[in-house]
Amino acid sequence: MKIVVGITGGIAAYKAPELVRLLKKAGHEVRCAATGHALEFVTRVTLETVSGAPIYSDLFASGRTEHISLKDWGEMLVVAPATANIIGKVAGGIADDALSTLLLAFSGKPIIMAPAMNCEIWAHPAVQRNVALLKSWGIRMVGPEEGELACGVSGVGRMAEPTLIADAICQGERLKVKGERWLVTAGPTYERIDSVRFIGNYSSGKMGFALAQALGDAGADVELVTGPTSLSISHPRIHRTSIESAREMYAAATEVFPHCNGAILSAAVADYRPSECADHKLKKNGSEGMHLDLVQNPDILATLGNMKTSGQTLVGFALETDNEEANAQRKLEKKNLDYIVLNSLRDKGAGFGVDTNKVTILSRDGKRRESPLLSKKEVAHLIVETITA
Ligand code: C5P
Repeated sequence: MKIVVGITGGIAAYKAPELVRLLKKAGHEVRCAATGHALEFVTRVTLETVSGAPIYSDLFASGRTEHISLKDWGEMLVVAPATANIIGKVAGGIADDALSTLLLAFSGKPIIMAPAMNCEIWAHPAVQRNVALLKSWGIRMVGPEEGELACGVSGVGRMAEPTLIADAICQGERLKVKGERWLVTAGPTYERIDSVRFIGNYSSGKMGFALAQALGDAGADVELVTGPTSLSISHPRIHRTSIESAREMYAAATEVFPHCNGAILSAAVADYRPSECADHKLKKNGSEGMHLDLVQNPDILATLGNMKTSGQTLVGFALETDNEEANAQRKLEKKNLDYIVLNSLRDKGAGFGVDTNKVTILSRDGKRRESPLLSKKEVAHLIVETITA
């Protein structure tokens, strides 16, 4: 792959040559684009020696328009370290030097950033807002969670180690999903009782959105079918279909699944819906209680399990409270799945609403992989890596 490594002026810039060396060793072609401040921390000669190419740092050097040629040349842009300044510039659409101009011109291709800054700066609402904005545009952050952790431990917003950044870059390459089409279901479903009420659940959609993002980053085209959620996603390879009820999710999922290489069903689908939906707001009827008659919803996962052809991979989730592994294993067989991702409600920090998760992935052929408590983003990468290995 042709990778542009962008380097900004943080102390962690001294680690950039090591990243360039690792990428070259992995067989990539690398060119560097550095800010003026970065060249205070790491010399031009060092970067030119490890990359084997001239450094792009001056917009006006001999009338060159490298931000255009590097934009065309590069297949991926990695900014390591990424200071609050460069993150803010991209968020604000500012292009006042070589690297920031290249970043704005690089749209439509993958961009990864490895933030590194002082703890207080990282925690500033403006920086957090900018990071969230960049993420919503599909820019991947390597190590922001680690950055937060590092803040707690050592007081410094450390950059992720070059090996971790190189892994994140190479991950997309290693995965077999590049060019494939995948279905992901996410979020809750709402089952209408009347014109203003519904039966729902607390699913936030975070796990499913992280899975869609991980698949998209790995080069797959993703059909994301999601129930009501406040989350937004903007990724050139993710196509979102928003639905409300289990039956709408069923219709959307069964329509696209025959055209997909695989599906990950992480939605928390309501098992039952009211047998009737009133077209007006139901009034109190004067009596003490009220009975809702419920009927069963279709099981989307089991249906896809029946439809599945030999080349397709089907992954389900299981949220269990007791006999977790045995129940999950049974579900895997009954629904004809290739993998089942088990969330245990016993684990603190796992499950609905929170940003973290802890899972055990069971495979049809008896393999088992257990994660520690990780961010949902990291869990998503682990799942994608496991099911495509
Ligand atoms: O059987 P159970 O509901 O525990 O299975 C959970 C898995 O099945 C999840 O992957 C969920 O997305 C999926 N599911 C579904 N359709 C349903 C119920 C669950 O796709 N009606």
